[in-house]
Amino acid sequence: MNRRENIKSILLGGVSASLLSNCIFPGNEKETQKKEPPSSHNISNWNLMPDMDWAGPKYWGNRLQDWNINDGLLQCMVEGRDRTLHHLTMQIGSSRNSFKSKVAIRFSEDLTKSNQNKIGYVVGSKSWNLEYRASAIHGNGLEVGINTLGNLFIGDEEFKQNSVDKGNLTSGVVLEVSAEPLGGAYTLLLSVFDKSGKILTQLEKKDVDPNELIGNIALLCNFSEFDSENTDHLVCSFDQWELSGDKFTKNEDQIFGPLCFTQYTRQKNLVKLTAQFCPIPLPSKAKFEVKQEGKWKMIQEAEVKYPSYTAQFRFDDWSYVESTSFRISYDFKYKDGSIETFYWDGTISKEPVSKKSVKAFVASCNHDLGFPDQDIVEYASVHEPDLVLFLGDQFYEINGHFGFQTAPLEKAYLDYLRKWYMFGWSYRKLFQHVPVINLPDDHDVFQGNLFGANGIEFPKASADKRYPRDYGGYMMPPDWVNLAMTTQTSHMPDPYDSTPIERGIHVFYSNWDYGGISFGIVEDRKFKSGPAAVLPHEAEVRDAYIENPDYPIKERSFPDAHLLGTRQIDFLKEWIENWKNETEFKILLSAAPFHALQTLPDEKSNGMQPRLEIPEKGEYILGDIPVADMDSGGWPKHERDEVLKLIKKSFTLHLAGDQHLPSVTQYGIDDYQDAGYTFAVPALANSWPRRWWPPINEPMLGQPGYTGNHEDAFGNKVYVRAVANPYKTGLEPARLYDRSPGYGIVTFNKISRDIEFECWPRYVNPKNNPQGQFLGWPITVNQLENNLPVKPYFLPTIKVTGIVNPLIKIIDDQNVTQLILRINGEVFQPVMDKEGVYSVLIVDEVGETQKQLDGIKAVAISNGSELKISI
Ligand SMILES: [Fe+2]
Repeated sequence: MNRRENIKSILLGGVSASLLSNCIFPGNEKETQKKEPPSSHNISNWNLMPDMDWAGPKYWGNRLQDWNINDGLLQCMVEGRDRTLHHLTMQIGSSRNSFKSKVAIRFSEDLTKSNQNKIGYVVGSKSWNLEYRASAIHGNGLEVGINTLGNLFIGDEEFKQNSVDKGNLTSGVVLEVSAEPLGGAYTLLLSVFDKSGKILTQLEKKDVDPNELIGNIALLCNFSEFDSENTDHLVCSFDQWELSGDKFTKNEDQIFGPLCFTQYTRQKNLVKLTAQFCPIPLPSKAKFEVKQEGKWKMIQEAEVKYPSYTAQFRFDDWSYVESTSFRISYDFKYKDGSIETFYWDGTISKEPVSKKSVKAFVASCNHDLGFPDQDIVEYASVHEPDLVLFLGDQFYEINGHFGFQTAPLEKAYLDYLRKWYMFGWSYRKLFQHVPVINLPDDHDVFQGNLFGANGIEFPKASADKRYPRDYGGYMMPPDWVNLAMTTQTSHMPDPYDSTPIERGIHVFYSNWDYGGISFGIVEDRKFKSGPAAVLPHEAEVRDAYIENPDYPIKERSFPDAHLLGTRQIDFLKEWIENWKNETEFKILLSAAPFHALQTLPDEKSNGMQPRLEIPEKGEYILGDIPVADMDSGGWPKHERDEVLKLIKKSFTLHLAGDQHLPSVTQYGIDDYQDAGYTFAVPALANSWPRRWWPPINEPMLGQPGYTGNHEDAFGNKVYVRAVANPYKTGLEPARLYDRSPGYGIVTFNKISRDIEFECWPRYVNPKNNPQGQFLGWPITVNQLENNLPVKPYFLPTIKVTGIVNPLIKIIDDQNVTQLILRINGEVFQPVMDKEGVYSVLIVDEVGETQKQLDGIKAVAISNGSELKISI
């Protein structure tokens, strides 16, 4: 049957219906006085809402900055493609019932006339799954409504005989869509009424596939033809959106906002918590309440700040030792004076100091391919982590479609917030009851690669270049970068040195001591030098890669170039020596690992990563070479080596993300395996699959050819224990599952001082398949393996009495610390990587020496001698 034959045009005149009784367009006020209670979730109450850049908790706007409430009306503020406002609490279900949606709309006067510019609804909007959040972001459905020529449309078909005058459209009409089951299909009815309730036109479509009518329902402003110089203005106002019919399913728990989520850290008696809000009217305050003897008690109030829309709470003397329930409360004030109180609750957990093992969920790189990632949240919860670490790219600038908006600043703020909200919408349950660290990386500040160069603007030399970011600096303005810092890190321990970098950009590098683990949090992008500003032209730097195959990067050093920078190295020098009484592990956190574990077909292949053939499981790609990606932590090598030499003194292990290529490696500085281990966790989802298919070189016994000793393109020595290269899983969607997505679980065992790395594919439910980790995992490394000299020189075995787990420090004859460790028990044999005479010190948590023995010689062959120290 011809599709057009299914559509019956009905032109009706004089049929009135009291559809506009609640419409509140100006000039129609008399009909607007009926107030719906705020709890009603099937009719909008924008008429009662204050002006704000947010449509309210029942809705999700694509994009956030394109929808606001003004003078009691919902407004779409841009001529652009696919702008939608999804209803979050009402979805069109699969039952064979009917539904109806009606909304009062008023077109702006000066819209670009085109049959490609459409206002109306999307019905049955769904993503690859029917999850309401996935549908709100990735959904497609049947578009129905009126185009800016005044003609009705259903899908791609325009109906010129069903037309509405411009005068009606600009003074206001009601657009109604309803669907009734008929036989095995549905009949769709699209009707337009004028201000008095008279039907202007009506269109019927029969034989609609029931599957087309399952999913979200959204308001639509979809403009494909417009003046690109003049896009940002009022397009259409909406009011009194009313949904009815048994085909709708209703779930009021699916609201988003005004309280979005909370994030916190706890460090001894200091608790810092940031509550994230939607763009509510400001000034506003939020309250922090704890439950005491069954009652909620407010213990702190905080302003919600612009532009981050965060309320930041700080408790310098948190007195609750045990896990304590809290809630944030916020009073939303309606225009009629009524108040609706919203809550977000959670737990400030008891610090796991006395737990024998502490477990961390570790993740990075959250592309929205699998949004809202409820699979990961479900599977990660199985592990019951004590803490959560997001090590970068909490979102990508392209997440949520529409690219990203960089100006004007106010809209760029909202663009950031929408992507940040998506992250929280996915993962908020994971950190509702445990502390969380976020390490904002490059994509978190809308840059594909970030060489922060201490906060400079892109230099003039970069102006005409294709990749100005290669020259160092930030693309976005400092206030916007600070929005990213505030939303992601304001709940974290205070910065070690809060002095901003250039142009007032905030820093967050610091230590976080929790549950017996001291995390050193460093910012490996903010101070890093731009390679194009450092390397000579002949290196042919393009998009962070050295493309000249003849450029001898391994033989070149650039001593003025920075990886972490002097300030952070000074911090690390202090951090490695700073062990609290309960600290048993030192763990470094950064975005990227300190090597470039990447191969490509040749030096100029960068950019091809998403298009390279994904191999079958077990296949080995031959012909690849290691490539010089300076966006990795492998460059500049001299500072990479300096940092590794420093942190191995405290047996520090390194956790990182960024690469989208899960790996466990042992760093080498002068020799293979002469430094600590690193675990680079998988991407949660990625669009940029990296790979490691080096020429095979003595792999580990029984392990794949890519394991064993290798040099990266910068000459960094790497002992590869495991890598999860992309392979064809046979699962759909392949572009999500065939790129090694997943997460890490790291368990710190305080009895054995073992650190266990688990690496889970996102498609494996660990409950059903406990053996389902990526090939090569789990891997267990003992703390002491993070500093096992290749050419060892042995000090006598130290036996301490009178103190348990003493902090032992070994200094050389220049008074420089060479080893520092809170030992496990009372016996420890220090192994040095240099011959010489050393002093052995027992120190306390503030660094005071309790005992010192000088003149202790390190020898090449252990002679079994002992050093007894009693405290
Ligand atoms: Fe990433």
